[in-house]
Formats: sequence, C-alpha cells, structure tokens
Amino acid sequence: LGFKKRKETSRGTFIDETLVGNTRMNIDHYQDLKKQIKMINLQKQDLVVLVSLKPFVQENIHAIVEQFYRNLKHESSLMGIIESNSSVDRLKQTLLVHIQEMFDGKIDDDFIDKRLKIAHIHFKIGLQPKWYMCAFQDLLLSLIAIIHEKIQTKEESLKAIEAVTKILSLEQQLVLD
Ligand code: HEM
Repeated sequence: LGFKKRKETSRGTFIDETLVGNTRMNIDHYQDLKKQIKMINLQKQDLVVLVSLKPFVQENIHAIVEQFYRNLKHESSLMGIIESNSSVDRLKQTLLVHIQEMFDGKIDDDFIDKRLKIAHIHFKIGLQPKWYMCAFQDLLLSLIAIIHEKIQTKEESLKAIEAVTKILSLEQQLVLD
C-alpha cells in the first residue's frame, strides 16, 4: 500500500505552483485541472492575495451569508429545496465556513474532494445549474463590494477582484462539471 501511495505522489508533486500536495484524483481529471488553472491564469500570487483578503471576508461573513439567502427568495422553489433537505440555519453555517475556506489560498486534494462532494449533494437535491450560478454571481458581487470598500488603491483592488473571480470560477468549474 505504501508503495502504491508513493507512485501517486510522484504524479502529484505538483508541477503547477498553484496545486499543492498529492493527488488522489483520477489522472484525466488531474490533467484537466492543471489546464483549467492555466486557462484562467490562476497563479500562486492570486492565492497570496486571497489569503490577504480573508480578514475582510471574515469581518463581513454574516452579512455575506444573509445576502446569499435573501437573494434565494427570488426563486421560491429554492427555499423549498432547502427546507426539505436541510434547514436555513444549518446551511448558513455550512456556507459561512465554506466561503471563508475559499480564502485559505490552498488548492489540494481536500479542496477538490470537498467540491466534488458539494456537486454531488446539489445534484441530488435537484438544484439547477442556473440557480447555482445566480447564487455565485450574488456572492461575487458581495465580495467585490467588500474589496471596493476595504482596498485603497486601484491596482490592489484590481488584483483582489481578479483573484476572487478566478477562485470562484474554479469552484464553479469543479461543481458544475
Ligand atoms: C449543501 C455550498 C448554492 C442548497 C451545501 C454545502 C456547501 C454548499 C458547502 C455542504 C456540502 C456538505 O455537506 O459537504 C454552496 C455554494 C453555493 C450553493 C458555495 C453557491 C454559491 C446553493 C443553492 C441552494 C443550495 C442556490 C438552493 C437550494 C443546498 C442544500 C444543501 C447544500 C439543500 C444540503 C445540505 C444538507 O445536506 O444538509 N451547499 N451552495 N445551495 N446546499 Fe448549497
């Protein structure tokens, strides 16, 4: 078993600076993921920027989550899906943790596994991709508003927005795949 693991590690010693750790991923998914990261130009520097934004996100996390749920009320079936599969309070808590983790600046096996699991859950509850994407856009707007408020210079603000859009894009790519 140890031998097998080592073999995986050699593939998983990430060439790409943004991917860290080993990989338990299927080789095709792994190769694709590397390309996806290249195509959206997600670089190590972006991850550093995300980590620097984390305190601002944490400061505003309750407002972000409140806005997220307020927004879902536009489509009445969504609240139904939540109430019959979970509860608003439980999901708020889940989302609160999840959004903060987007700013950990780490893309590793746990990150990928978690997104695949989230994808599976959303598929099972019948959440349509269009609503999922609307929720993401709303989340992006909340994050941009925070950046706009907290970041002083135009250059830093641009870098922050670029980093946030890249990580949200990757999230969506993984969850909607
Ligand atoms: C579960 C995130 C959009 C309804 C989850 C989980 C996460 C998550 C992290 C927990 C997965 C786990 O238990 O491991 C997100 C993100 C979204 C999003 C980041 C978009 C930005 C939505 C929308 C709905 C929804 C629009 C509307 C119906 C649910 C439900 C669960 C769930 C019902 C099941 C939770 C359970 O099993 O208790 N979501 N979600 N999600 N999500 Fe979402």
